[in-house]
Parts: sequence; C-alpha cells; structure tokens
Amino acid sequence: EWVARVRERLVAWYEHAQRPLPWRADQDPYRVLVSEMMLVQTTVTAVIPYFERFLNQFPTVQALAAADETEVLKAWEGLGYYRRARQLHAAARAVVNEHGGSFPTTPDAIRALPGVGRYIAGAILSFAFDQPAPIVEANTQRVLARWLAWREDLKSSRTQAKLWETAEQLVPPEGAGVFNQAFMELGALLCTPRSPSCLVCPVAAECGARLLGIQDLVPTTTPK
Ligand code: ADE
Repeated sequence: EWVARVRERLVAWYEHAQRPLPWRADQDPYRVLVSEMMLVQTTVTAVIPYFERFLNQFPTVQALAAADETEVLKAWEGLGYYRRARQLHAAARAVVNEHGGSFPTTPDAIRALPGVGRYIAGAILSFAFDQPAPIVEANTQRVLARWLAWREDLKSSRTQAKLWETAEQLVPPEGAGVFNQAFMELGALLCTPRSPSCLVCPVAAECGARLLGIQDLVPTTTPK
C-alpha cells in the first residue's frame, strides 16, 4: 500500500543520492545531539566545519561536560544562537551527572535534556538508536504537506498535530534512522521550497500535490 511504497522508494533513492555529511558517519548519540543543535536555524554547509572542529575539541560527551562555558561559547563563535551552545553544554553535563555518562534511550528522558524538543529527541531516538520515533521539521513537514496535498497553514497547532501523527505512521518499525534521514534528505535535495524536482523524485507517483499539479502552492506558507 501507499506507506510501504513510499518507505521503499524513499530509502532506495537515499542509498545512492545521500550527501556524505560528517554526522552521518556513525550512530553516536552525542554526535547526533551536537549536529542537530548546530543545525537549528543554520545551513548544512555552514555547520560542517564547525561540527568537525567542535568534535575535535570535545570528542565525547564527557569532554564537553568537563569544558568551561567560555571554551564552548568560543567554539560556537560565528554560529549564532548562543543559547543553543549553553543548552548543549548543559545537556552534556546532564548526561554525565544524571545518566552516568551514557545517553538515555527513552523518549521522556531524552526530552528532559536541556534544549531537546520533540524534533531533536526524534532525531536522537531514530538516528542513534534506530527507534521508530517520528521527526517533523522544516524539510519533512513540507514533504508531508505535498504528499498529502494539504493546503492549510502548517504553523497551526492542529496541523502540527496532524503532521506528527502522520510522521509517526510513516516511520518504519525497522530502519527508522535511515528512513528519517532519507525523508529529510528528500526535502533538502529534491522537494525544495521553490521549484521542487518532481521529474526526478522517487515518490512523485505517490505525491498528492504532484497529482493535482499544486506542488508550487503547497505548503501555503513557508515554514520559519
Ligand atoms: N537539518 C537538520 N538536521 C539535519 C540532518 N541530520 N541532516 C541534514 N540536514 C539537517
């Protein structure tokens, strides 16, 4: 059925189309957390050199927890959103002080870390632990709105709830991490805000907006 086809085609496309991003090299939850905190409001291209330098300087959650805040803020300099750096530092300290240095693996415990909302929790659960947790962010919400030809404002709380529900139904019980990466990558590379590349899209035949020819009108408002 539709869900099975979308999962299969999306993952098959991702296997050859994915960008080799440094935080995809392994499933370390610390690397997932650092990359996602850096990627809030910042582009992939801008983040890559910061991510590599930061991981050289603070290779483990223990190293980050032991660092002075001034060192952490210095390593973050130029990325902006310094509150994220402070939250990341506090999250590292929470992992060390409250969880004995190994990342918690339950949704509630991950969500309790400073700066970790539903999206970053879903990223850690799926990318690092392969748990079937949904992710909804700028890329995946645009992809979902197009697949389902939703013309409503994505910011409304009712629509946000529907987006999370739908993402939850789509994420497969096995291979959730790869599926979620593929889902985001489709939004980043093909299902772009303007002029989406429907002609080469692996799931164009499954896409409601494409069938109706309204892919340029959905989503109605550009996500933040
Ligand atoms: N944007 C936010 N998280 C991302 C990730 N893990 N990979 C690529 N782009 C992203």
